[in-house]
Amino acid sequence: MPLSMLLTRRPLVGFAGLFLLLGFVGGAVLVPKGCSGVSEAAGERGAKQEETDATGNENGDETEAQEPLGLFLTWRRDPTTTMSVDWHAPDATSRTLHYKPVGAEEWRTQEATPHNFPYSARVIYRTTLTGLEPGGSYRFRVGDFERRYKFRTLPAENHTEPLVFAAGGDTRHRQSLMERTNRVAMQYEPDFIVWGGDLAYADGRPDRVGRWYEFFDAIMNTLIDDDGRVVPIVVCIGNHEVRRGYLHRHDDYVQTDEFRERIAPYFYALFDFPGQPGYGVLDVADYLSLVILDSDHSNPVDGAQTEWLAEVLAEREDVPHVLPVYHVAAYPSHRSYGGRVQRRIREHWVPLLERHGIRVAFENHDHTYKRTHPIRDGEISGDGIIYLGDGAWGVGTREGNSSDEWYINRFASKRHAIIVTLHGSHQHFLMVSEHGDVIDEYPQTPHGLGRGE
Ligand SMILES: [Fe+2]
Repeated sequence: MPLSMLLTRRPLVGFAGLFLLLGFVGGAVLVPKGCSGVSEAAGERGAKQEETDATGNENGDETEAQEPLGLFLTWRRDPTTTMSVDWHAPDATSRTLHYKPVGAEEWRTQEATPHNFPYSARVIYRTTLTGLEPGGSYRFRVGDFERRYKFRTLPAENHTEPLVFAAGGDTRHRQSLMERTNRVAMQYEPDFIVWGGDLAYADGRPDRVGRWYEFFDAIMNTLIDDDGRVVPIVVCIGNHEVRRGYLHRHDDYVQTDEFRERIAPYFYALFDFPGQPGYGVLDVADYLSLVILDSDHSNPVDGAQTEWLAEVLAEREDVPHVLPVYHVAAYPSHRSYGGRVQRRIREHWVPLLERHGIRVAFENHDHTYKRTHPIRDGEISGDGIIYLGDGAWGVGTREGNSSDEWYINRFASKRHAIIVTLHGSHQHFLMVSEHGDVIDEYPQTPHGLGRGE
């Protein structure tokens, strides 16, 4: 696909719009029923919903719509026909999700199941809608909250329309940093976002529940577009989702659901996918498989997970886009090449990725931007794997201590999002900084904006 097409595909929020939106900060503050105490972020949310109500409500209802405290869409099953919806609210609100195809008259309903939000009085209401139309647009509203949103299912095929999503990791040292990169990613109107760990930096600690509130506030503020469409998010576990970061720091570690939940209480409660055992594969029809892995945080890299990975990759050799996502980098740009987890991933996962024809893997954790040379058998090789990372969505960036390593091809100490376009057999990756400028592109297109080879 030509780069010009990539850059002009349904641009959504220009910087003028962004400043307009920011100008509303401090506007009407709306809170859910029964809730007191609002943050500045809630004020932003209130401002944004006013805009949406003016344009998004099909009945022209200009009543200020109330919103839940958090809204998170993801998938546990086929993203072409299902949608998993979480909303966070005070207890004793309605459990009913209302939804209908855009343009339909009648609302359908489905009851959500309440779940505990760890160390919080909030309740997670969760349900998965099934039997949806591929590539369909749906309106929905949740519980007692009035605001109407939209979601899209993913298309059943990838030949006529490109699929666009954003990738990155290490999302929230500060809410403002997270929101800035979110807004840049939204300019490409992604079908979804995938984040490879270190999400809220709460480290499983009860006293850091507020960091999760900020994480979900950032999503409410910036990942719902002007038409009310909520962008689904697929997450992966990182060290900051887990107490002490790594399972080898727990002498009593056992590989059970109960233990994983104990050391990563938020991660397993807050996200419907991957859920237990902490890694999983999300298949989008027959053209994309996201392989979400746990790099020694709540599951060992080796053993059961590696055996599972071998099976998953073998079963998907005919899938044109198989994209692994994990937190610790096999080929790090800041940390040491010889580090423990780095070595374990190269020992146990990389040979499988190479054997099964993986073209690109997403890595995180180092708070930099890096693109490796294609690597196979520990050497630069034309038919090798490109490793893209390294987790600098919304965190303080680091220098490239190992930027002169043999495998590093591109490096920048910049916050960024990776905009991925899949079309037929083609893959394209556009790396965009938090300020919206293109810092790299792979593969390079003629006269592309990324730096030349
Ligand atoms: Fe990390």
